Amino acid sequence: MKPSEIKKSIYWVGVVDWTVKSFHGHTYTTQRGSTYNSYLIVDEKIALVDTVYGPFADELIKKIRDIVPPEKIDYVIANHVETDHSGAMPALMKLCPKAKVYGTAKCKEGLYKNYYENWDFQVVKTGDVLKLGKRTLTFLEAPMIHWPDSMFTYCPEEKLLLPNDAFGQHYASSERFDDEVDQAGLMDEATKYYANILWPLSSMILRKLEEVIKMGIPIDMIAPSHGIIWRKDPMKIVNAYLSWAKNESAKKVVIVYETMWGATAKMARSIAAGIADSGVSVKIFDVNQSDRTEVIGHMLGAKGYLVGSSTHDNGMLPTMAGFMDFLNGLKPKQRMAAAFGSYGWAGGAAANIEKIIKDAGIALAMPSISFKYLPDESEMRKCYEFGKEFAAKL
Ligand code: FEO
Repeated sequence: MKPSEIKKSIYWVGVVDWTVKSFHGHTYTTQRGSTYNSYLIVDEKIALVDTVYGPFADELIKKIRDIVPPEKIDYVIANHVETDHSGAMPALMKLCPKAKVYGTAKCKEGLYKNYYENWDFQVVKTGDVLKLGKRTLTFLEAPMIHWPDSMFTYCPEEKLLLPNDAFGQHYASSERFDDEVDQAGLMDEATKYYANILWPLSSMILRKLEEVIKMGIPIDMIAPSHGIIWRKDPMKIVNAYLSWAKNESAKKVVIVYETMWGATAKMARSIAAGIADSGVSVKIFDVNQSDRTEVIGHMLGAKGYLVGSSTHDNGMLPTMAGFMDFLNGLKPKQRMAAAFGSYGWAGGAAANIEKIIKDAGIALAMPSISFKYLPDESEMRKCYEFGKEFAAKL
């Protein structure tokens, strides 16, 4: 794939990782693959903003070489230390050893601890400007969006924001721009990205977004370091981030359960019927049949969660335990939840789930419901009523 000119003399020189299905140490399922976006700005001085994941270093260098000899690069802007964006730096810097690396103080520290190289490094702070010629780059520290070292790079002359992970999506595509791809698929990936990576950082994201909006900087293109570039309507993703960061959600319910012999699954179906018959949108996921990254994506947009499990060793089943541990880490705010489950002799799953719901800071909407072995007709009716009551509390 050739470089793509996204603005005059500004090139996408990234790579498309079509086959990656598991990311971040298996914490994220990349069903649509991903891209590592790197941008080459050719002016009187030449700057490269972010590199790519290490195994793709040769492809990055070949793309750069299609435009300029790599040794002509004057500046390498490291918006973020994580290896999917910096992994190609050791190979690249060998070709342009005089290039100066720009990044935050935390980035300098992180790059050294990853690669143990003494590159010429310029620490930058919010508002620092680098002149390239006709164009300038302004840096904006963005700590915890999503690592302490993160920063955004902005080119005012082009109204171009290069925010690294922010506004990105794991979306492999031969197309580069938002107006060239399926909108539903694009927003689905952007939603999953926020939900699984950025959700627990929402308060900091909101502060940063409000700071950027207050600065009044004009933006007509947002080019993140994963996935598709926003040029048609960059405010679409900014407004989505604002809504997510404010913890807004819809009157929807996600039911997620794990079942051993089918009793908890049966309860889930009856509870869902009660919710649907109340006029509230509901989705059911069996954790053993579902992709956790996708389920969490649906949870971002839903106000209510119902979590169920069969009892095993006086607690919930192990896949659900892993799921709840992940959810606890995301600390969803302004959400409500309740638990349900089944047991053979001593219960424990529902109480175990309730404890994690509380630990995660999610409001416990009502007491849990649990039944012994397979629920009978009257117990199924109670499940239906449980669903109705939960829907009413939304
Ligand atoms: Fe895409 Fe935080 O790296």
